[in-house]
Amino acid sequence: MPRILGIETSCDETACAVVQDRHVLSSVIASQIAIHQRFGGVVPEIAAREHVLEINTVLAEALARAQTNWDQIDGIAVTLGPGLVGALLTGVTCAKTLALVHDKPLVGVHHLEGHIYSVFLADPALEPPFVCLLVSGGHTSLIHVKDHGVYQTLGQTRDDAVGEAFDKVARLLDLGYPGGPAIQKMAQSGNPKAFALPKGTVDQPLDSSFSGIKTAVARLLQKDPLLNRADLCASFEETITQTLGQRIQLALRQTMLTTIVVAGGVSANQRLRRHILDLGTTYGWRVVFPPLDLCTDNAAMIACAGGERFKRGARSDLDAKVFPRASLDSQPALDTQG
Ligand code: KG4
Ligand code: ZN
Repeated sequence: MPRILGIETSCDETACAVVQDRHVLSSVIASQIAIHQRFGGVVPEIAAREHVLEINTVLAEALARAQTNWDQIDGIAVTLGPGLVGALLTGVTCAKTLALVHDKPLVGVHHLEGHIYSVFLADPALEPPFVCLLVSGGHTSLIHVKDHGVYQTLGQTRDDAVGEAFDKVARLLDLGYPGGPAIQKMAQSGNPKAFALPKGTVDQPLDSSFSGIKTAVARLLQKDPLLNRADLCASFEETITQTLGQRIQLALRQTMLTTIVVAGGVSANQRLRRHILDLGTTYGWRVVFPPLDLCTDNAAMIACAGGERFKRGARSDLDAKVFPRASLDSQPALDTQG
């Protein structure tokens, strides 16, 4: 089984990991959250510079913790996109240099494919087909994973991603960045039925819209700046959770599948996890989440996805290009030597 070094620098985490056969040997993440916090979000130029400063230390730490030397590495997987171009370039340049110096094959990975593969690190026996609800800071998609590397997007958000909605609502409430964990904490003591918020339904039942919920929260706060914030956070989480639960039911009915995996930063949310597990018990689904520490961006998921591609013969050229945007269905050819 190939032992893969993974490198991820698409946004604000500098991450390296070693993964073998869907098992994490090491996963090291240098988070830039504290640096971006005072700006209320990620500043691309600062993110790019921080990756340059951190990458060598993170790499050395990942190899040391995995007790792995270069002879034991079979391939290098790196996020080629989507993400911030300046940030991506650091990881990709590092990966290409290591591939050249140590004569190792390079495998490019789509960041969202990485998130999907994070669930294999929780359940190594899992195999497609299944439906994946991908909920991160940039994406909210229901994806039919037909086979390894074969994806069909069934539905997505028309505007804000779910994680983005968490971050924007947290900003309205002065809870800081990133918003998800802060809202989850505040919501713990709140009443989830206190406020009725828009459910984000649109004409296509598997699509959704989350910008209205943020606007509704802003209006409520304008009307009454002293309203109960715990209740508001709990109602916000509950509305999002119910909406996503309904979409999952529809997607599983449409595809006639019974396995749902939830990935991306928002899959760390406890209320969402509980609700989907409850639905799974009611309807007899297999429900899989990534390990809690691998929900947000990390390199273990990139190494895992890269390892699967590697086993199927995928290889990328040393002149493979980073890409800032691309859906999973129409991703650029990653396997330039396949
Ligand atoms: O997957 P991720 O690390 O980055 C992207 O690829 O976008 O996701 C980050 C997002 C942020 O919007 C953050 O607020 C959200 O995940 N998040 C959460 C939780 N932890 C992180 N949202 C809700 N509940 C959480 N516990
Ligand atoms: Zn991500």
